[in-house]
Amino acid sequence: MNIVVVGTGYVGLVTGTCLADLGHRVTCVDIDARKIDFLKRGTSPIYEEGLEALIQKNIHLGNLLFFTSLTSAVSDAEIIFIAVGTPSDVSGKADLQYVYAVANELGQCLDHNVIVVNKSTVPVGTAAEVGRMIAQNFSGACEVVSCPEFLREGTAVNDFFHPDRIVLGVRSRAAEDVMLKVFEAVQCPKVVTTVESAEMIKYASNAFLATKISFINEIANICERVGANVEEVAYGMGLDSRIGNKFLRAGIGYGGSCFPKDIRALNQIAGINGYDFKLLKGVIEVNNNQRLLAVEKLNRLTGGLRGKTIAMLGVAFKSNTDDVRESAAIDISELLLERGVRYLRTHDPAALMNAKKILDKRVALFEDPYAMVQGCDGMMLATEWEQFRHLDWQKIRSMMRTPVLVDGRNLLDPVRMQRLGFLYDSIGRTLTASPSSQFKTNRVVVREGNK
Ligand code: UDX
Repeated sequence: MNIVVVGTGYVGLVTGTCLADLGHRVTCVDIDARKIDFLKRGTSPIYEEGLEALIQKNIHLGNLLFFTSLTSAVSDAEIIFIAVGTPSDVSGKADLQYVYAVANELGQCLDHNVIVVNKSTVPVGTAAEVGRMIAQNFSGACEVVSCPEFLREGTAVNDFFHPDRIVLGVRSRAAEDVMLKVFEAVQCPKVVTTVESAEMIKYASNAFLATKISFINEIANICERVGANVEEVAYGMGLDSRIGNKFLRAGIGYGGSCFPKDIRALNQIAGINGYDFKLLKGVIEVNNNQRLLAVEKLNRLTGGLRGKTIAMLGVAFKSNTDDVRESAAIDISELLLERGVRYLRTHDPAALMNAKKILDKRVALFEDPYAMVQGCDGMMLATEWEQFRHLDWQKIRSMMRTPVLVDGRNLLDPVRMQRLGFLYDSIGRTLTASPSSQFKTNRVVVREGNK
């Protein structure tokens, strides 16, 4: 099938490239000429495992083209995916100006019947509005369907080919058939529903996952007070198949380009529709508070942050990505500077370049984690990169002026860190006070009994 994907951000580029790999003929369009130039040469502007190889393969096969002009791209398109950004505006509302700009342009340049697919995360009612805008200038048939994306950064290519489900919000049987054909080769449940329900499924899914994270973070905060260990609690909870073991990692809260923005947008959608979404407000508040609590721990262990030299290990919003958008680490860096930290340093294996664009200029960036910790009074581990686990922690301990370590991601073994001489704290993992304790992390013993 001939497909056009408008927008080569995370969602658009992964979707377009993977659709090409399924055998469709895909043209990706972006107004950013520099980006399109890079892509034509087979260079991915984003760090995503497996993506660049797939771009190169499909350019070579002739399945994947890159254009800056929407008008030339859509001339023989059967399906047009809109995958442009929907950032939050000041009120938390999804800013739809880019989606509507595409809709307007489509109205002006379409000259044949097509299906338009909303891939961007948009409030309920947006597909209908996009349809109205196109119809102002185009009198042919153009159904706007909703196909929300659930790709996670870092595993987006794999998620595309092996999704838990594909959601298709359609108005007609004809559009349903076309969309099922687009994704025919992908084996998974396909949920065909109304456009409005599809738009809502996306927000509800993200909000539920964020709720799980804030829930376990609150449990972690109580664990600290009652002497329990949140990892063991989460493990015990997660074995209940109704709960499941995913998204129960306590820490400094969620970040990224989707959760914070989509949760704010859903809260706003509820509000303008006369509904007070109390639970979601709590989720947002708990998430903000987790950053503060971690900074407070560092403040306590360092005996006050004012005038101190602090290292922040990791700045990406999660591991295996170079994305720093709404990263908890960025919020924490601001809090640390507000508290009077004199020198703030950071290291990240992939995200330094992006971090440089948004971090306060006072934050010094280090390619080498050991150079960063030299002479530091404390450190905050802010991203759960696997390689951080394997750093030479003994060496780090000896290089720091005071070996204070707050592990905001529960990545390291508390017993080991304390044995190495760190003044160590993490999130919701209390150690038994007695030094003779037999405590070991992950000591939960699962006995396979008769059921
Ligand atoms: C998310 C959704 O998972 C995806 O379906 C949607 O399409 C886009 O948004 P992504 O932003 O890539 O994907 O990140 P995800 O892996 O979901 O993590 C989001 C944030 O939650 C990260 O900051 C992560 O560190 C945090 N998180 C995740 C936790 O703090 N604890 C957990 O248990 C899981």
